[in-house]
Amino acid sequence: MSTSATVGTALARAFAGHFGRDPDGVWQAPGRVNLIGEHTDYNDGLVLPFAIDRATTVAVAARADRTVRMASGFPGAEPAGFDLDAFAPEQAAGWSAYPAGVAWELERAGVAVPGFDLFVTSEVPVGAGLSSSAALECAVALALSDLTGAGLGRADLADIGRRAENNVVGAPTGIMDQSASMLGTRDCAVYLDCRDLTSRPVPLGLEDSGLRCLVIDTKVSHAHASGGYADRRASCVRGAQGMGVAALRDLEAADLPRARRALDDVTFRRVRHIVTENERVARTAELLGTHGPLAIGELLDASHRSMRDDFEISCPELNLAVDTARASGAIGARMTGGGFGGSAIALVPADDVDRARSAVLAAFAARGLRAPDIFTVLPAKGARRL
Ligand code: GLA
Repeated sequence: MSTSATVGTALARAFAGHFGRDPDGVWQAPGRVNLIGEHTDYNDGLVLPFAIDRATTVAVAARADRTVRMASGFPGAEPAGFDLDAFAPEQAAGWSAYPAGVAWELERAGVAVPGFDLFVTSEVPVGAGLSSSAALECAVALALSDLTGAGLGRADLADIGRRAENNVVGAPTGIMDQSASMLGTRDCAVYLDCRDLTSRPVPLGLEDSGLRCLVIDTKVSHAHASGGYADRRASCVRGAQGMGVAALRDLEAADLPRARRALDDVTFRRVRHIVTENERVARTAELLGTHGPLAIGELLDASHRSMRDDFEISCPELNLAVDTARASGAIGARMTGGGFGGSAIALVPADDVDRARSAVLAAFAARGLRAPDIFTVLPAKGARRL
């Protein structure tokens, strides 16, 4: 039996233990890391994330009424419930806001969602910047789409997840995380144009090149419903307005001298990050195709510097993780995700993984910092029914 099948069976049993009946099915959706292309998604730009081999799994059964009951295998996650007819986004709170938000957005999109019972379990660490929220949203979206026979496409389901996050959870995030979770394919990254939403798989070839993708979870917490993320998004809107374009996607490197004259210094640097990051994403996808992953290290490094110095979304722990990994064998490293904490990724030759791991742990210990979680991830396939 495969690991997924084992997870599915255990979850179906937990569901039956909690609700006293069998689920109609079990669905699974992965977390993601972003290889490159940070904060470009809500600027109509380019991203290159991949789904990882850590997923969130939901067992779901439709009900004959309009009641939703939700429970979770997480210690401390309280069961929750509500009536679909009485749902108000502002009342949604905690983990259950994600599944509730998906059900609500599906209804708003015209899908007749029945009441349902749901039990969730997850191996995507929460708060690590690996999109545990998108994994939950996508698993629920696919489950409800299947159960209702709505048959929505994967890109549409990703958008339902994004809307749940924006309108119910209250985090002003873009479409990247849900797209990675819905569209991921084995050994590939997802090249997504966030303007026209066209996407294609880009083979990563990590294994063939003897590379591993190391994730360093700094355990520094971030929350995108408040603070820095929304502030950066506002800067980008200001930058686009100041430059007279619909979105920062419309600017190129050749526009930067004019941007420097037209914008205040901070806004200019925010804009420069987005413009150069879009170019790095396109270049990374191109190099992966022509030369493979060993050729993209410098682009990952440049992306990190741009986030550290221009977009200012890194933090000392992320910088330490990146610098230490780089100094102990990584061919490239960068923070991944929204920033202000969460994880960094490093592409490391297989033989150097242990050395890099020990070096990062030692560097954190030497500075009296909480020990990070360090593990490897594989590019995996997107959401599916088990
Ligand atoms: C978070 C958001 C994404 C994206 C990244 C930054 O993960 O959910 O939409 O904006 O931050 O690239």
